[in-house]
Amino acid sequence: MSNKPLQSSHREWNSSAYERLSGPQVSWGKKVLSRLRLRGDEVVLDAGCGTGRLTAELLQALPRGRVVGLDLSQNMLCSAQQHLQASLGSQVSFVLADLLHLPFDHRFDGIVSTACFHWVLDHDRLLQELHRSLVPGGWMEAQCGGGPNLEKLRNRCDALAATARFEKFFSGFREPWLYQDAEGAAESLLGAKFLDVETSLEAAPTILDGREQYAEFVRNIVLWRHLEQIPDENLRREFMDNLTAQAAHDDPPFQLDYWRLNLRGRAA
Ligand SMILES: C[S@@+](CC[C@H](N)C(=O)[O-])C[C@H]1O[C@@H](n2cnc3c(N)ncnc32)[C@H](O)[C@@H]1O
Repeated sequence: MSNKPLQSSHREWNSSAYERLSGPQVSWGKKVLSRLRLRGDEVVLDAGCGTGRLTAELLQALPRGRVVGLDLSQNMLCSAQQHLQASLGSQVSFVLADLLHLPFDHRFDGIVSTACFHWVLDHDRLLQELHRSLVPGGWMEAQCGGGPNLEKLRNRCDALAATARFEKFFSGFREPWLYQDAEGAAESLLGAKFLDVETSLEAAPTILDGREQYAEFVRNIVLWRHLEQIPDENLRREFMDNLTAQAAHDDPPFQLDYWRLNLRGRAA
């Protein structure tokens, strides 16, 4: 796998859309945070912090601690900074960086990450970088997409991208996600020298509230990298209309078959 940093267009999320639409991610993330057993004075990395809604929750549990929010997207970090303005400097700071090239050595007591690792295509290297960032004995509690995550939508999307109307835009394109299963993730954690490794997969089916919300969510949160391949807005809309029409006929309609992969480990 190449170590080259990603191109800038592949970094940038629509952070205001994410802020508006990320209710499902925030509720999964809160459950991950509820598993932490914190003293309250730890220094914690939020790896792939996005717009910082969960960074803010984490900070509440660390009255004497500190959080570093790290992300590859400038847009996401700007939103996160606005969110956490009051605590900036003293208790929270933000770093624009790639999780595959982390600028930390043995710095953190703990690492939290939610809804992020599946966007990083080299999990062996990712976990090595995270391990190096932890103090000896430091912990990691993370969750990302895994297993058969979004299989129905991905199959429909692949079929549509292979049609005569769209195939020219997708030549050489590959999915921007890596969905490991629990066994593969455990192997990667052990390979990166994590101890006390635990991994598990859980179903998290999510029903969107009608046609418009489905289309907006899928466009901005799931398939934005696919849609970047299509150079014309009318065609992008046609692509989304097709997928939305198929989802309208599902039972129940507008359901996304999300699966979450939980990863836990401790640094040697
Ligand atoms: C779906 S958002 C999750 C944000 C937040 N953790 C949450 O649960 O709402 C995924 C985030 O991971 C970040 N990300 C993806 N690949 C990354 C990488 N290689 N290095 C750092 N951040 C990355 C994206 O920029 C994005 O902000």
